[in-house]
Amino acid sequence: MSATGIPPEAPDVLVTSRPLDEYCAQFDLTRARLAALPGPLLDCPGGAAGLAAEAGELGCRVIAADPAYALPLPLVAAAARAARAAMAAAMADRPHLYPSPRPDRPDRSERYLRSWDRARRLFATDSAAHPQRYVAAALPRLPFADGAFALTLSGYLLFAYPELFGPEHQVAALAELVRVTAPDGEVRVQPLHDGRGRRCGHLDPLRYALGERRIASEVHRFHRAGDDRARRVLVLRAADRRRRTGPTCV
Ligand SMILES: C[S@@+](CC[C@H](N)C(=O)[O-])C[C@H]1O[C@@H](n2cnc3c(N)ncnc32)[C@H](O)[C@@H]1O
Repeated sequence: MSATGIPPEAPDVLVTSRPLDEYCAQFDLTRARLAALPGPLLDCPGGAAGLAAEAGELGCRVIAADPAYALPLPLVAAAARAARAAMAAAMADRPHLYPSPRPDRPDRSERYLRSWDRARRLFATDSAAHPQRYVAAALPRLPFADGAFALTLSGYLLFAYPELFGPEHQVAALAELVRVTAPDGEVRVQPLHDGRGRRCGHLDPLRYALGERRIASEVHRFHRAGDDRARRVLVLRAADRRRRTGPTCV
């Protein structure tokens, strides 16, 4: 829905509450692919997303990791409501940053924000019922075993807040996400721009640094139906798996 996905003036990291369908659209995934995963999925940062609850309904086991889970649940929910308000204000103030693919549907912003409300409620119910799915942890160090996850997703953090995550911190965090992902799995990271829509300017050196750590990387470009903007996701895999079939840098 939005061009940048986060309000450009966001002072701190927002605790956002995206639903499963938005995750699928942003990471170029489908419900069928999630349902068929051979192991658990890690969502880091999980924020107040509906992913664990909704994907759980599909039979996909999700572990969400986020430092916000060290807070009592009502405070996480309050932070998510504040993030919703910040996004609503940004969409009203800067409509050019949030172009609607359907100009004939001016109610689209409100519908989009209502999808966040729904996801936030799902998060609140699910995290109260299944607290073990929500692990308090902060990149670049995660409390999970090597190769624990079949798929790892990381949305709206590492490139979205460059003032908080410099290049070295990004490499360390990305390497940690690869460590906890199975050798035949993958890590997907988006967006590759900040809150003002500015693309990460050091993606090539960053990928080189990852290659030195034997992590293969690829920028996957795709379009969603009904949206002519090209989207980009950084896909990472342990390079040792690829050594058998080809070069480590792609
Ligand atoms: C904008 S939200 C993104 C949540 C979710 N992935 C989404 O797409 O809506 C960013 C989250 O990053 C979390 N966060 C901040 N610092 C972090 C760190 N060092 N490691 C992991 N998560 C962190 C915040 O608590 C916040 O919930």
